[in-house]
Amino acid sequence: MPSILVLNGPNLNMLGKREPGLYGAKTLSDIDEMCRATGAQLGLEVDCRQSNHEGELVDAIQTSAGAFDGIVLNAGAYTHTSIALRDAILATGVPVIELHISNVYAREDFRHESKIAPVAAGLIVGLGPDGYALAIRAFAQRLNA
Ligand code: DQA
Repeated sequence: MPSILVLNGPNLNMLGKREPGLYGAKTLSDIDEMCRATGAQLGLEVDCRQSNHEGELVDAIQTSAGAFDGIVLNAGAYTHTSIALRDAILATGVPVIELHISNVYAREDFRHESKIAPVAAGLIVGLGPDGYALAIRAFAQRLNA
């Protein structure tokens, strides 16, 4: 069965408590459950991980080669800064959908730049937690195409 890694970066473990006006009331475990359920409907196995540490996210991307068919990546603030994550994506070659719960383009200027977007297969931005389910659906379509 094809498998997808849902990888969340720093502060996303705080969902539910963190700025709920921006990020909503769902916790990360609610989102993880929704991702697994969406995957199950579509015949995809979904593994969900989170880390606050850049190097651990790099490790997760590196070890995804051969283990996963795609990565849904919400790198949080590292999106805007991390050349290391971008290089890991390029080194690994596993397609990545960059995801943001909030509309980063309607926020501060420093959130308008993404180091990851140029090497991503696609982006889902500003659609709330439902964006994760949409990203998994997008991978299901790509894998069946
Ligand atoms: C975020 C947007 C980032 O700018 C921010 O640093 C986050 C969350 C989002 O999901 O909207 O931590 O990636």
